Amino acid sequence: MIVLGIETSCDETAAALLEDDKTVLSSVVASQIPVHTDFGGVVPELASREHVDNICFVIERCLKEAGVSWKEIGAIAVTRGPGLVGALLVGMAYAKGLAYALKIPFVGVNHLEGHICSIFLDHPNAELPALSLVVSGGHTSLFYLKKVTEYEDISKTRDDAAGEALDKLAKHLGLGYPGGPVIDRLAPDGDPHSVPFAIPKISDHSLDFSFSGIKTAALRHLHEHHISPLEPHTSKAPREVPQPILDLLASYQSSIVDQLLNRLERARKGREVGSIQISGGVSCNSELRRRSTDFFKERGLPVYYPRPELTTDNATMIAAAAAARIRSGAADPWDLTADPNLALIGHPQPQEFTDPQPLG
Ligand code: KG4
Ligand code: ZN
Repeated sequence: MIVLGIETSCDETAAALLEDDKTVLSSVVASQIPVHTDFGGVVPELASREHVDNICFVIERCLKEAGVSWKEIGAIAVTRGPGLVGALLVGMAYAKGLAYALKIPFVGVNHLEGHICSIFLDHPNAELPALSLVVSGGHTSLFYLKKVTEYEDISKTRDDAAGEALDKLAKHLGLGYPGGPVIDRLAPDGDPHSVPFAIPKISDHSLDFSFSGIKTAALRHLHEHHISPLEPHTSKAPREVPQPILDLLASYQSSIVDQLLNRLERARKGREVGSIQISGGVSCNSELRRRSTDFFKERGLPVYYPRPELTTDNATMIAAAAAARIRSGAADPWDLTADPNLALIGHPQPQEFTDPQPLG
């Protein structure tokens, strides 16, 4: 069966066609980065408008690239939450309208479940139970994955997400948006030991994350050392970025990786764990990939990541997350709504699909 995935939870309008749970026929992602760059972050109202402008084109192009006709689509999977409500509504409304017209089922998907499932597209036999870390611009959440569809909450961030911390420092320094890839590129030219950042200790010994403290510490460091941000639109080649900034970026990125590894290692102790799985936009980070692979190799555990194009938001992962439910004949009701705060645990059980009845 061919499943059309649709993702509009934040600043990417994405569609993908997935056949038989694993073959990607096409994947189209319209990024809104140029629209939000001048603001140094996503502006929700602009994001919604861009989704409205882009969605028809993105889906038509997705079908064209795959050489698939409307009638060959067997079901639709769409991100239902969490995310920006106006942005989610665009994808949900389109998915429902198309499913209704084609008389096929649609399934609402949790965005985090999409990131988690992105791992299994390339690593279908990744060992379970696993520690699954979703680390992106909007989320830093750790789950205990007993089966592919059985999640137990371990911890999440109490303030900023890891990607948000990278984006905010980059914005302050005039490095552009999103900050994660720029810092990833510049950090190897800096000294990661030059600025000491402490790993935050959460008082009740929980495994929660916190990234707002290091952001404040970085801003204080800039102030105390009279380091000025770069002029916007100047070259960001490493040799043109002052060494104190390169050193700060290297230390900052390294402290974020330290904290992620610290929580993963503490969560591993006392649990049966077959593998470590890291997904989401920040999972593309070179230092995180290298250090986590080495760290857990010493402990006899494999670490899995999605392929780079599946780390940031995409619709392939949304189709993949819904595949098992769709195969079992499930479908969500037509009155399912977008939920900007949708929790991963407790996703409502979809109903069995019945042909659409006339509305009203
Ligand atoms: O998964 P994603 O597209 O959106 C959310 O669900 O939030 O993740 C976007 C985040 C941004 O914060 C971006 O700076 C970060 O992923 N990111 C990276 C890298 N590529 C993207 N962070 C560090 N290193 C990278 N190479
Ligand atoms: Zn995401």
